[in-house]
Amino acid sequence: MTTSEFSQIILIIDDNPTNLEVLYQALDKTGYKVLLEMDGFQGIETVNNHPPDLILLDVMMPGIDGFETCRQLKSQPNTCDIPIIFMTALTDTNYKVQALASGAVDYITKPFQQEEVLARIGVHLKLRKANLELARQKDILELRVEERTAELSQALNNLKKAHLRLIQHEKMVTLGNLVAGVAHEINNPVGFLVGSVNNIQEYTQDLLAHVRLFQEYHPQLQPIVIEHAKKIELEFLAEDLPKLVDSMNLATERIRDISTSLRTFSRADSSEKTTCNIHEGIESTLLILKYRIKANDKRPAIEVITDYGNLPPVKCFLGQLNQVFMNIIANAIDVLDTSVEEKIFAEVKENSLLINILTEVSSDQGMVSIRIKDNGCGMPESVKARIFDHLFTTKGVGKGTGLGLAIARQIVEETHGGKLTCNSVVGMGTEFVIEIPV
Ligand SMILES: Nc1ncnc2c1ncn2[C@@H]1O[C@H](COP(=O)(O)OP(=O)(O)OP(=O)(O)O)[C@@H](O)[C@H]1O
Ligand SMILES: [Mg+2]
Repeated sequence: MTTSEFSQIILIIDDNPTNLEVLYQALDKTGYKVLLEMDGFQGIETVNNHPPDLILLDVMMPGIDGFETCRQLKSQPNTCDIPIIFMTALTDTNYKVQALASGAVDYITKPFQQEEVLARIGVHLKLRKANLELARQKDILELRVEERTAELSQALNNLKKAHLRLIQHEKMVTLGNLVAGVAHEINNPVGFLVGSVNNIQEYTQDLLAHVRLFQEYHPQLQPIVIEHAKKIELEFLAEDLPKLVDSMNLATERIRDISTSLRTFSRADSSEKTTCNIHEGIESTLLILKYRIKANDKRPAIEVITDYGNLPPVKCFLGQLNQVFMNIIANAIDVLDTSVEEKIFAEVKENSLLINILTEVSSDQGMVSIRIKDNGCGMPESVKARIFDHLFTTKGVGKGTGLGLAIARQIVEETHGGKLTCNSVVGMGTEFVIEIPV
């Protein structure tokens, strides 16, 4: 035996002083630490205060007997695992059976055979040690399983996020390329037009001045010239042509703005944040969505009202924020579309479909907030609770993938350290609030 086994504690509960004396001598000599109690109550108290490694328990005792003592110890979680060996007279077969039934691991018979007692105690202490080790290993194993499960679910989460990022990136790259391509194609002809219109403006002024000079210094015109002037309504033409050219000038400038806006939208996501004008982002997004905002055969145009505050430049990935604006505004258009689906065109009043976009510096300084609000049908709590979930959608197959808001939240909160929240009232509408640190 090793020293640690010698220092194991054995509690003897017996009302017979002679038995106590004999057992104490034998166990103490062998090296066990021995505790003695003379009745069940005291015994239980000692077990609770100084839990032993094994209990020797007499059956017949005043107060509560051995069986009841055993039952009580077995019913307490902190003492139920301590092995109990009963001590009974050789003849009490019934008692032996009852002893084992009440939860004891063994019994020894009186009068005691010292070697037998020591051998049985040795066996049960070893068993107990093995059991304790087994329980310890089980705990370790359970902990490992828990850790492993946590690791796996973390890995799964990361995978889902990577999936989202990939989709988001793919979507943006495709759209960005398309828009950039269009903007690029428009750019050269528009540049040419802007330059040419300027020249035309100059040339027309010169030409008209020349005609006027001609009329002044050659009042006696040939009939054919007079006839032609009448035919082409020269007076009206001379008045209208400069106006027309002015309008052309405005129109080409507008196309140039659009082209610039498209390029803002498609500005490739640089790997670093750049200082951007949020309003430019919103405007270019609205431009891309214009074809969905204007009137169609089911409803009048959606009125987009912008109320831009005095925002400082914001360090951000504008391309990604554009995608957030796009997802949220597209959802608002979707909900306004469905709100008129049941009605016929005439029932839908002009200016009854609204999207409000308001920007301001948050009361929580250091943040800018962008509020995008629609007057659609709103959503019940059960939907609202899940809108940011990956793949949650209430739209039909082919109409929604349920990724828009999950991606938006990821961009706002994880990439920009901001906050994306939603307020919605059934029958009144929905408002998304994007907050981005400056
Ligand atoms: N402005 C809104 N008004 C009412 N419900 C909304 C609004 N915005 C989002 N929702 C609800 O939230 C759900 C999730 O929106 P999300 O943009 O994530 O996915 P989706 O629009 O269904 O699909 P997609 O991936 O094509 O964007 C929508 O299906 C809709 O039920
Ligand atoms: Mg959507």
